[in-house]
Amino acid sequence: MAVSKPTILVTGGAGYIGSHTVLALEAAGYPVVILDSLEYGHRDLVEQHLKAKLIVGSTCDRPLLDHIFATHPIGTVMHFAAYIAVGESVQAPGKYYHNNVVGTLTLLEAMLAANVKRFVFSSTCAIYGPPKTVPIPEDHPANPISPYATSKLMVEYMLKDFDAAHDLKAVAFRYFNAAGADPQGRLGEDHQPETHLIPLVLLTALGKRPSISIFGTDYDTPDGTCIRDYIHVADLAAAHVQGVDYLLQGGDSTFINLGNGNGFSVREVIETARQVTGCDIPAVECDRRPGDPPRLVGSGDRARQILGWQPQYPDLTPIMAHAWHWHQRRHR
Ligand code: UFG
Repeated sequence: MAVSKPTILVTGGAGYIGSHTVLALEAAGYPVVILDSLEYGHRDLVEQHLKAKLIVGSTCDRPLLDHIFATHPIGTVMHFAAYIAVGESVQAPGKYYHNNVVGTLTLLEAMLAANVKRFVFSSTCAIYGPPKTVPIPEDHPANPISPYATSKLMVEYMLKDFDAAHDLKAVAFRYFNAAGADPQGRLGEDHQPETHLIPLVLLTALGKRPSISIFGTDYDTPDGTCIRDYIHVADLAAAHVQGVDYLLQGGDSTFINLGNGNGFSVREVIETARQVTGCDIPAVECDRRPGDPPRLVGSGDRARQILGWQPQYPDLTPIMAHAWHWHQRRHR
């Protein structure tokens, strides 16, 4: 007899990484309930492509959380809902600490009240700050340099304490640069405003922007531009499903990098986009963007060892091709 899978509460499930993860959870047979404020999430994508029930609200709303836990058989929580703009967090730190830290604390307390003790958390490689070693291992010292990154690290500290005091087991995934789109074209990246390199390059290819700016050409890298570890969002989603399986099998709390171990420069990203799209994509060389480390690449050893996770799309070309397919459909 098939064992029924527990319902997963996915906060931020109408957002970029959250929605792709809901798709993967549903494909793996998990019932899902989404909690999303829709401040940045997309109702249309949930309604068109996901089976999950969508509840519109905030993780800071304790009565709403209590109601959700009282009325659904939630076994595990996946927490994506957060503000993510590094620059904005420097200008408005209170906004970030409130939503990302207070919202998460409210959620954890509601979980404990409902006796739900498994948690998958969306953390970031930004907690490491400028790296001392590359590829970056999980035991690299944490040195966040923005309120956004600090807010994520504060949650990691809370999770350690909640495990010690309440036996709440958590997997915190530290993402490198999430990129790409659902290979079948149902979901993709649609941030407002958009600040990330790959969507901006593709919006330029579509003629929605006149050119792409290259932020800094004098870094100590082979072509002078910054190197990042772009990880396909479908690979991120698969890791999250494996993270839930790991916790359900009694796995201990841990934190795990999710990158693919390959670095690509800004110039390589733009050149790959030119090849995939067949468009010229004008590029303009600009000054450095403050706060950008020259090279961020993650070690994927722990994800392989603990979860048996292996990225399916380690190369940039399929990541770009899937993103291009999505952007053409979304912006036609
Ligand atoms: N870049 C450009 N031109 C642009 C946009 C970006 O040259 O128009 C460059 C950036 O300077 C950087 C690279 O492209 O070198 C990637 O930039 P993104 O903004 O796409 O991504 P980041 O590496 O800055 O950000 C990612 C995550 C954040 C996380 C951060 C940690 O998206 O959530 O890594 O450093 F906080």
